[in-house]
Amino acid sequence: MSVHPQTETILAGLTLEQKASLLSGATFWETEGIEEAGIPSIIVSDGPHGVRRQSTGGDHLGLLDGEPATCFPPAVGLGSSWDPELVERVGEALGREAQAKRVSVLLGPGINIKRDPRCGRNFEYLSEDPLHAGVLGSAFVRGVQSQGVGTSLKHYAANNQETDRLRVSAEIDTRTLRELYLPAFRRVVTETQPWTVMCSYNKVNGVFASEHNWLLNTVLRDEWGFEGVVVSDWGAVRDRVPSLAAGLDLEMPSTNGRTDADVVAAVQNGSLEIAVVDTAVRRLIELALKGHEGLWPDAELDVDGQHAIAREVAGRSIVLLRNEDAILPLTPGAGPVAVIGEFARTPRYQGAGSSQIVPTRLDNALDAIRAAAGEDVPFAPGFVLEGESDPVLADEAVRLAASAETVLYFAGLPSSAESEGFDREDIELPADQVALLERLIEANSRIVVVLSNGAVVRVSDWNERVPALIEGWLLGQAGGGAIADVLYGVVNPSGRLTESIPERLQDVPAYTSFPGEHGSVRYAEGLYVGYRHYDTREAAVTYPFGFGLSYTTFGYSHEVVRVEGDTVRVSVQVTNTGTRDGREVVQVYSALPGAEVSRPVHELRAFTSVAIPAGKTREVELSFPVSDLAYFSTAADVWSVEGGTYVIEIAASSRDIRARLDIQIEGDPSPIPLSVNSTLGEWFAHPVGAPILNAAFAQVLAATPAVGGMLNDPHLRKMAEQMPMSQMVAFGAITPEQAQGLVDAVEQASA
Ligand code: BGC
Repeated sequence: MSVHPQTETILAGLTLEQKASLLSGATFWETEGIEEAGIPSIIVSDGPHGVRRQSTGGDHLGLLDGEPATCFPPAVGLGSSWDPELVERVGEALGREAQAKRVSVLLGPGINIKRDPRCGRNFEYLSEDPLHAGVLGSAFVRGVQSQGVGTSLKHYAANNQETDRLRVSAEIDTRTLRELYLPAFRRVVTETQPWTVMCSYNKVNGVFASEHNWLLNTVLRDEWGFEGVVVSDWGAVRDRVPSLAAGLDLEMPSTNGRTDADVVAAVQNGSLEIAVVDTAVRRLIELALKGHEGLWPDAELDVDGQHAIAREVAGRSIVLLRNEDAILPLTPGAGPVAVIGEFARTPRYQGAGSSQIVPTRLDNALDAIRAAAGEDVPFAPGFVLEGESDPVLADEAVRLAASAETVLYFAGLPSSAESEGFDREDIELPADQVALLERLIEANSRIVVVLSNGAVVRVSDWNERVPALIEGWLLGQAGGGAIADVLYGVVNPSGRLTESIPERLQDVPAYTSFPGEHGSVRYAEGLYVGYRHYDTREAAVTYPFGFGLSYTTFGYSHEVVRVEGDTVRVSVQVTNTGTRDGREVVQVYSALPGAEVSRPVHELRAFTSVAIPAGKTREVELSFPVSDLAYFSTAADVWSVEGGTYVIEIAASSRDIRARLDIQIEGDPSPIPLSVNSTLGEWFAHPVGAPILNAAFAQVLAATPAVGGMLNDPHLRKMAEQMPMSQMVAFGAITPEQAQGLVDAVEQASA
C-alpha cells in the first residue's frame, strides 16, 4: 500500500534491473538508492540499546567498533522496569541519537520470548511473557518512531536460542506458536506499525523464516495488517527468489548483485511474477523516502543529557530480591563498608554480539559508591573476570571482609559466558566467585550481593545465607552510578523479574529439549514456559516472575473487577504503607478453573508501574479486552473465548496474589461444530446439541435397551461419552440418516 505521492511515479520509471537492485543492500548498513530515479539510500544500524553506527567497515558480530554511542540498559534491564512510559522515553532518546548519526532505521527491539535461561541472547530480549514483551516492545517502537526514525522488530519468529541458530528448525505446535511466540509481534505490529520487521535465521516447522509465506504474508500482512518492509536478518536469505515470493522485501547486507541477478532471471524465465517484485519495490521506495525525509538537518548528540537518561533508566532496571532486616539502603558514614569483586571496578554492562557498542563514557560502581559514601571505601577484586581463579586475590578479599561492617560483593557472569551466537550450558556463576562468596559469608554476616548477568543465574545454594541480594542485570554505561543510587537509597528500587529464577537448571521447562539436536529443536513444553510452567505445577522457584522488593511496602484494597462491553476493567487502591516514596508494579492475571482446553493456571493480562509517595494511596486502573482471554483452537483454526467464570487476580508477582475476583464471560460459541464424528461427551457438553441429543435418545434409544442401559449407568456412561456418534451408527443404535438429522438439527437451531 503506497501512501507517498511519488511512489507510483518512481516505480513506473524503473527498469527490471533497477527494481531488482533495490531488493538487497548497497553495503553492510546501507540500502540501495537510485539517484536519478529519486530513490535515496538510507542507513540502518544496530540496535537495540544503543546506536551502533559503523561509518567505516561493517560487521554484525560486535567484532569492529562503532562510533561512540550512549549505551542504555539492554532489554533485560529495561524490561525489568515494567514501565512502558519509561521505555518510550528510552526509545525517544535512541531516536534522537539515531538522528544525530544520520541513521534512519534502528535495528530493534528484540522481543523474542525467553524460552530458556540458557539462551545466549536473553539479555537482548524482554521477557518470558508475551504480553509484557509486547507492551514494552510497542512502547520502544513508539518512542523511536516519534523521532522520525524507523525500527526493526526482531527476530520474527521463534528465535529462542543461539545454538544452530542459522539452521535449526523450531518445531512448535500451532497453538503454542499462536499463544506464546507470536502475540508480542502481533501487538507491536498492530499497535505501532514498525517501519520494518526482521525475519530470523532459523526455520519454523521446517521452513526458513526468510521463506515462510505463512509467517510473512498470511499472518504478518494479511492477518495483522503490517504495512512496512520485511528485512532479512544479516545473511538469513538462503534462496532469494522463494524468499521474495514469501514476502521478504529486503535482503541485507549487500550481495554485490548476486541475488539481484537471480530475481531478474526468474522474472525473465517466467517463474516469478513481476507483480511480486513491484510489491516489494513499492514498499522499499516508501521506506527510503520516509527514512530520508525524516532526517533532521542538524541533529546533534547531547552526550550528558543521554547519559543522565541512561542512569535514571538503569536505576529503574535494578531488581532488589532480598533485604533482610532492612540492611539496605546504606547510610553514608554509618560503618565501614568494603567493596569486593572485580565487577565493581570493571563493569559488565552490555552483552556481546551485534548489539555491542562503544559507550560515550562508562561509570563504575566502585567510584560511585565512594562518591556516595563520601570516603575512600576499600576495595579488593577477589577474582579475575576471565581466566583461572587466583587464591591470592581471594585471601586478600576475605581479610578485607573480616575488617568491614558491611560487604558489597559484586559477582556475575563474564562476557565470555553469554553472548549472541552461542548458548550457555548451565546457569551457574563461575565456581571461584561462589567459593569466594562462601568464605565471605563465614567472615562477615552482612553481605550484600550485587549481580551482573544478562540472564538468570542460580542463586538457590546461598541466597538465604546473605541478607541482601540485588539483581543488577546489565545496566548500560551509567549502571555503576545507578547501583550506588540504589545501595544508598537515592533511588528506591522498583524493578520486577521478567523471568522466573529457578531452583536448579533441571527444573527449567525446556531442560530436556533445549537446544535440540541435528538441526531441530522440539518445543516439547508447549505453552508451559516460565511461570506458566512453575505456577501450573506448583513447582518451587527461588524467585517468581513479577517479583521485586522496594524499600517501602504497599497495601492493596478496594479491588473491583467488572466487564464493560468488550473490556475487563480492574481498579484497586494501592497504598504506600512505608516511609519512603516508591513505585509499585501492579499485575493482573486471569485464570479459568476447569477450562475446556489445557491452560496455564494463570496468565498475565495487564500491568502498570505507579509512583506512590510515602503514606499516600493511588487509585490504579487497568483494563484488557475480553478477546485477550481467547485460546487458539487448533482444531478449528480460530481464536475462541471460552465462556465461564474467570478468576481475575490482582497481584504483586505471579506468586503474590492480593485479591481474586470472579467475572462471568459469555464467551464464543464452541469453535468446533458438532458432527457425526463428535463424541457423545461433546454432544452432551454442547449447549445446543445436548437438548437435541437428549430428546432423540428419549425417543429412539429407549427402544434399544443395551444403549439405554449404558447411558443410565454412570460408569458405562463415561465409556459411552468417549464414543463418536458414528460409533452409535456402527453399533446399529441409530441409522446414518438419524445421525445426520441430529447434526442438521443443531445447525438449524444455531443459525
Ligand atoms: C543479528 C541481528 C542484527 C544483525 C545486524 C545479526 O547477526 O541477529 O540482531 O541486527 O546481525 O548486525
